[in-house]
Amino acid sequence: LDPETRQYTTADKDSFAYITTRDRWPVIITGAIDDVYRSVSRTEGDKLEEGKEIVKQLTAMKYELQHDRKMVPLQDDGQTDIALYNKELEKLKHPTWFNVPWLFAECYFYRRIQTFFALSIQWATYDVFSRQKLSTFRSSRSAVLELASHYRTLREQLTSHKSSPDPNAEEVLFREMCEICLWGNATDLSLLTSLSYEDIQKLQGSEARKASESNILTNDLGSAFEVLQKAKESAKRDAPFLQDRRIDIVLDNAGFELYVDLVLAAYLLDSGLATTIILHAKKFPWFVSDVIPADFASLLSALAAPKPFYETPLDDENLADAAPPPALELKEIEDLNFIFQTLSSHHAEGKLILRPHPFWTYGGSFWRMHAEAPDLYEDLKGGILSIWKGDLNYRKLCADADWDPATPFQEAIGPMGKNSGINVLALRTCKADVVTGLKKGDDERLKEMEGGSDEFGKQRKWAWGGKWALCSLSQGK
Ligand code: F6P
Ligand code: MG
Repeated sequence: LDPETRQYTTADKDSFAYITTRDRWPVIITGAIDDVYRSVSRTEGDKLEEGKEIVKQLTAMKYELQHDRKMVPLQDDGQTDIALYNKELEKLKHPTWFNVPWLFAECYFYRRIQTFFALSIQWATYDVFSRQKLSTFRSSRSAVLELASHYRTLREQLTSHKSSPDPNAEEVLFREMCEICLWGNATDLSLLTSLSYEDIQKLQGSEARKASESNILTNDLGSAFEVLQKAKESAKRDAPFLQDRRIDIVLDNAGFELYVDLVLAAYLLDSGLATTIILHAKKFPWFVSDVIPADFASLLSALAAPKPFYETPLDDENLADAAPPPALELKEIEDLNFIFQTLSSHHAEGKLILRPHPFWTYGGSFWRMHAEAPDLYEDLKGGILSIWKGDLNYRKLCADADWDPATPFQEAIGPMGKNSGINVLALRTCKADVVTGLKKGDDERLKEMEGGSDEFGKQRKWAWGGKWALCSLSQGK
């Protein structure tokens, strides 16, 4: 099921896998401990006792990780994937934290945290990353408002040109919306351990986006547009038989990224490039900031009622000397409400659907989807295009393997590629070592740039920080 090319492991001292294990996971788990600790201090009775137990379990896991202990089997929380995780541990001969395939270890990390909560009674649905997700979303306020205003202008233009759409302008717009959606991924919270809020804000505005256009190393957005355009034309010709043109978006992060994904979804529906959008989400907190259904709900309520969301300080921001957040202007509120109304009417009409699936939090790569989640694999075949957001989805598509960077993307995604019947468009900012689809010599050139590698040219540092991106399409024919 897996490719023959070896996967990155946490023992690879030159890869981001090692740095992640040594530096990033301890910070993430410490953040989780602090969060539960804070919530525990506001509870009493059984909930208090259970909360303390969770803190203990998290602390023990952090110790095991930092002391390179064996990865213990997961406790059974009643979900079917536990057996898969534990089987994988056996297959890997019960590895230690610093000598295990990176992808599996990282999934195990979040899955194990989830068992602590799932096995409790009072904390079963608690989201340990929720505080962080909400406060970062609030801090992206200026980019949110900028895009809301841009979207509204666009919609007005779309409505006035509906009778005679200019295909060139349509393609330009499609590219722009996809690029917004791409760079919205540069800001996932698990990277916050190395980026500041200021860095994040710089990454989000439209100026930053324009400046970053040349950082897209492979850009197949033109071909993706063609796929959609052709489907639209043939639907027009052969209607009503081909009326349903569905696009799947495999979501990544909540907050700002989910917001831009929703704007893209709305645009795809408004422009007639799709008739239905399915949003694929996780079922429990994952990789710090990934979308779970509750994030979808809280984003929509923030758009519906932006004043209380943006103008009430969060409890951790409630410092006596902190300036209160500036009040929103009327136009800003109207722009956000406009997006909310568009989204909620698409949702109410069944054109915008959120669909969580347990497979998204399994420990293996998407090379295994046809075997481990045949229902999902079949489901994806029903769409005209699937858009895969972010770094982790890309790593899973390519099995997190050490491909030669010039390997064609379609080859690296194995069973999701040729003959799969699925058109896969990955929108990925690079935050890990795996890269495919580059031109020969590109990797070497990027390594030679300042900060692109170490003195021996071994590390692929350029690919770790979200500065470079890939928009790769594989047509499943
Ligand atoms: O830690 C592994 C990793 O894939 C990083 O490379 C990346 O920063 C993060 O997890 C998740 O990124 P994303 O939210 O884009 O999938
Ligand atoms: Mg993520």
